[in-house]
Amino acid sequence: MSANQSNGSIKFKVFRFDPDKDQQPYYDTFELESRPGMTVLEGLFDILERQDGSLAFRYSCREAICGSCALYINGAYRLACQTQVSHIDSDEVVVNPLPALQPVKDLVVDMTPFFEAYHAVDPYLQPAEDLKHVEEGKEYYQNPKDRKKLDMPVDCILCGSCYSSCPTTWTHEDYLGPAALLKAYRFVADSRDDATADRLSTVSTESGIWRCHTAYNCVEACPKDLNPTFGIQQLKKQTVGKLLLGRK
Ligand code: SF4
Ligand code: FES
Repeated sequence: MSANQSNGSIKFKVFRFDPDKDQQPYYDTFELESRPGMTVLEGLFDILERQDGSLAFRYSCREAICGSCALYINGAYRLACQTQVSHIDSDEVVVNPLPALQPVKDLVVDMTPFFEAYHAVDPYLQPAEDLKHVEEGKEYYQNPKDRKKLDMPVDCILCGSCYSSCPTTWTHEDYLGPAALLKAYRFVADSRDDATADRLSTVSTESGIWRCHTAYNCVEACPKDLNPTFGIQQLKKQTVGKLLLGRK
């Protein structure tokens, strides 16, 4: 714990930008009372409620499930609701919005390109013929072995950290990005899904898997410890096997 935090106070240096009145972004520094277990999100709420009601940031679940509070905090991609102030090895908590996405106001960024890429991969199950008899609203059963294959990709909370961290998204606006490609892999790996050929065609483009340079930034950035690069590699493997070599 830093000296400041043990004294019961902590500084928050926060990125500010209001396109309606600011020419340039800048930082505001706030001094807060810290308390055991306090998260960065709670610190932002303290600022909002006690010092500056104009501060803009996103949140929803406050328990690392919705993905909306992803920020760039002291040089790392983190969920603000999951990050305790005492776990940051510094006297100052430096809070930035997700880099490489257009700032809307303060810590809020425009997630449109991220969600456009997500929708482009048809992120829903397209059931195989033998499952089509299942009554609407009922589950499509799956055996535990096949379900196990989905353990990693289903944990994605669409926080956008991987997308923001990827050097290919910085230079290619139309790149689908790690999260959308991981979602495509999630359905290709699903034994109940029947759209593998279409899915591989969608991702096997210059804006898809072949644009990934295996930089691993996404793996490092993911606050849920997921591995989008693994998903992309699996899609490459399946594309070569099924689409190019005609394997079953
Ligand atoms: S893969 Fe990880 S970093 Fe990327 S959107 Fe999903 S949870 Fe966030
Ligand atoms: S508020 Fe939902 S993940 Fe942080």
